[in-house]
Amino acid sequence: MSGKLWGGRFQKSAEQWVDEFGASIGFDQQLVTEDLEGSIAHVTMLGETGILDQDEVSTIKDGLEQLKVKAQNNELTFSVANEDIHLNLEKMLIDLVGPVGGKLHTGRSRNDQVATDMHLFLKKRVKEVVELIAKFQETIVDQAVANIDTLAPGYTHLQRAQPISFAHHLMTYFWMLERDKERFSESLKRIDISPLGAGALAGTTFPIDREMSAKLMGFSSVYQNSMDAVSDRDFIVEFLSNSSLLMAHLSRFAEEIILWSSEEFKFIELDDAFSTGSSIMPQKKNPDMAELIRGKAGRVYGNLMGLLTVLKGIPLAYNKDMQEDKEGMFDTLHTIVGALKIFEGMIRTMTVEKETLNKAVHQDFSNATELADYLATKGMPFREAHAVTGKLVFLCIQRGIYLLDLPLEDLQEASNLIEADVYDVLAPEAAVKRRHSLGGTGFDQVIIQIEKAKEKLSVTKQTI
Ligand code: ARG
Repeated sequence: MSGKLWGGRFQKSAEQWVDEFGASIGFDQQLVTEDLEGSIAHVTMLGETGILDQDEVSTIKDGLEQLKVKAQNNELTFSVANEDIHLNLEKMLIDLVGPVGGKLHTGRSRNDQVATDMHLFLKKRVKEVVELIAKFQETIVDQAVANIDTLAPGYTHLQRAQPISFAHHLMTYFWMLERDKERFSESLKRIDISPLGAGALAGTTFPIDREMSAKLMGFSSVYQNSMDAVSDRDFIVEFLSNSSLLMAHLSRFAEEIILWSSEEFKFIELDDAFSTGSSIMPQKKNPDMAELIRGKAGRVYGNLMGLLTVLKGIPLAYNKDMQEDKEGMFDTLHTIVGALKIFEGMIRTMTVEKETLNKAVHQDFSNATELADYLATKGMPFREAHAVTGKLVFLCIQRGIYLLDLPLEDLQEASNLIEADVYDVLAPEAAVKRRHSLGGTGFDQVIIQIEKAKEKLSVTKQTI
């Protein structure tokens, strides 16, 4: 009566607007390839186990293959009346091959079907994300290699702290991304599991072979509990969580790009291709892309919070609430892929203003620690050395000069441990160079760090 594939027990149909509210086809059509892939594996297994005969299987498979081609050519027309991607495709199959198409759903439910689609979808996409992260890391390494001896002020509290190699600063983001990449890669083992064959929740009476369909789809294992299989959305939460942390990193980097490209810093210049102008102020060149990435982090966090909240109170097993797992996931994927591509291009094409950076470290007190360390090396307790240096900094501020401009007499008046060699020690290059401690900003350490980073990248290349 209702005209739905599941309409047998219904006496009347829902109104169009009710159907629209319940439908997911508007967004789950993005699962079209995965849904067909899952169906092909399922029907193959139904044939191999003798649940369907081979004629039926080949008719159904043939129909599914035709739908696959149509999907690739964008020739499928989906309808809200058929609710979601699963029912849309099943209806199309029946229209194409006749009532035998109705046998495809033997021993299967949309509950295990949708879970299967999501696993297949994320498995493919997470690998692509890992590749994109690796590509971005390569670009960071390239910029770092070009800037090993570019001096830059290192900050804490956004106050000049100590001079560093600009490469060292850039490489920090390499390591954040390395952890992101690791997290996405590690999550694959929880994505790479087949829920197919769990049925609605309890398994099925048909003599199916879950291992076989899993293998046909390329999954490494199967869920051991049918109820877990249809109700688990942890892998999507994990994807959103990994994406959130990735966006946190990109957002921090974006913030630095925005600062660095400002008139106040002028440490870098962004390529025109990644900047925009103002509709009223002709002089403006805005770092819009970096700002957008910073802003989009909020959306991704929102998607994570959204799904966690959806899941927190739903009883086992499948509940329609779970349909809400999709939009946030698609949106997040779209966002992180875009953000990674844009960021890579932005960093690859930016100009590092080496001279401005170099000048900056010569016009600040970021070498004050050097003086304190110098005194401490000569035997003065560090606390005392700190105080002596602080007084000299104050003296400079009063005179409007920097430590390197102080005459030796003034320095010696503060402490007779100071000798003429102090000027070499206070040079920013020397300050960077001397930081040989493992992982420090010393040029030699930065070179070692970059080598290690390259090793990591070649490991990624072997694994993806
Ligand atoms: N569109 C549904 C979803 O995305 C598919 C599963 C529907 N299952 C059901 N029994 N209503 O979750």
